[in-house]
Amino acid sequence: MSEKKAQLSIDGIDEPIDLPVYEGSTGPDVVDVSSLVGHGVFTYDPGFMSTAACDSDITFIDGGKGILLYRGYPIEQLAEKSNFLEVCYLLLHGELPSATENQEFENRIRYHTMVDEHIHRFFRGFPSSAHPMAMLCAVVGGLSAFYHDTLDIDNPEQRIGAAHRIIAKLPTLAAMCYKHGVGQPFMYPQNDMDFSANFLHMMFGTPCEPAKVSPILAKAMDTIFLLHADHEQNASTSTVRLAGSTGANPYGCIASGIAALWGPAHGGANESVLKMLGEIGDESRIDEFILRAKNKDDPFRLMGFGHRVYKNFDPRAKVMREICDEVLEELGAHDDPLFRMARKLEKIALEDEYFIERKLYPNVDFYSGITLKAIGIPTNMFTVIFATGRTPGWIAHWNEMLSHPYRIGRPRQLYKGHTQRDYPA
Ligand code: CMC
Repeated sequence: MSEKKAQLSIDGIDEPIDLPVYEGSTGPDVVDVSSLVGHGVFTYDPGFMSTAACDSDITFIDGGKGILLYRGYPIEQLAEKSNFLEVCYLLLHGELPSATENQEFENRIRYHTMVDEHIHRFFRGFPSSAHPMAMLCAVVGGLSAFYHDTLDIDNPEQRIGAAHRIIAKLPTLAAMCYKHGVGQPFMYPQNDMDFSANFLHMMFGTPCEPAKVSPILAKAMDTIFLLHADHEQNASTSTVRLAGSTGANPYGCIASGIAALWGPAHGGANESVLKMLGEIGDESRIDEFILRAKNKDDPFRLMGFGHRVYKNFDPRAKVMREICDEVLEELGAHDDPLFRMARKLEKIALEDEYFIERKLYPNVDFYSGITLKAIGIPTNMFTVIFATGRTPGWIAHWNEMLSHPYRIGRPRQLYKGHTQRDYPA
């Protein structure tokens, strides 16, 4: 029981209303306003700026201090010592796996990497101009038509079965989205490869010639997935929870998360970094664009700089910067004009008073965009990569919600439309 209380006085209600205040293990307290409906009032918080919509044990962010923890473990330590699949296990089960659990989990994921052959026909129905996110969203929702043995959301084993299937199949489907667009045959997963190397094999290999997957690029890919694996109650995760609260099946819920991630304000930022670099075009024009970014009358902003939550630094960006360097080194791409321009932009912004004063540091998207581009991933696939990484987070939140008593999510509104009126005679 909560001992802390808040009191709310509302004009027209005689007595102040006592509201319990709950303390989390860390982070801000929350005021429980759920009893207000009994007093005939709702709370109003568009954009959920001050609203905690659930309890969660999965991820903690302190934006002021630049902290991101998955199940208590700092993201920097996980990026250094762990790998994406182990992090999937951690997010899903709450603890790091033992060596045996890790092996079993990896085997389970490998076992499920292939998709039903009928799914290949789904792709044939899409024009080759289809955006990869349009295809991904449709085929992930469509998985519910195939895997009937993982649709009982009240059965914890079936929920975990769905989680394994979705995590395992996402890279296969992501690569299929790419192959369809470029008119190449789909590549089957090769299960003696690690998760992220296998993804690069399905992206860049052909039946005529296997991809030469460099361990450094595979590690970079794995780190990109790991850094994106969860970010607590962001828009797409909240969408997955809301869809899940209706009792919808897991594949439909993840498809709803993919749709929410598609928006440029959410998953599309790293794509914008590359578009901006293309727009700048040449190092000689950087100063001009920096001036534009500072000009209040110009809507232009430096893409990949600043963050809504991280106000000192983005801990993911620090890790991603090193990975980006390693990839450029491996590919001998440091002198590529695009990457030289990115480096110069980063240097100028980090030394410029305007950016220092406003704490506008390069964010994870700045470096992940450059890294993905260097690896050879086309920009329209960037959000698909983000979705592949974010999948364990979505599914862990979905499973967490269903493991406890929950209610259908049903926000209220401040109605400002017509009051009742009669249909014209
Ligand atoms: N370039 C130039 N000026 C900027 C930028 C920027 N990228 N970002 C913020 N500012 C300025 C802004 O004009 C304002 O200046 P002033 O105080 O003089 O009015 C000040 O900095 C504070 O800006 P804000 O809009 O209050 O900051 P915010 O927290 O609302 O916005 C943001 C955060 C990420 C939307 C914004 O920084 C931005 O648009 N960045 C570029 C887009 C981008 O890279 N987005 C990806 C974020 S990471 C995604 C993820 O984690 O999922």
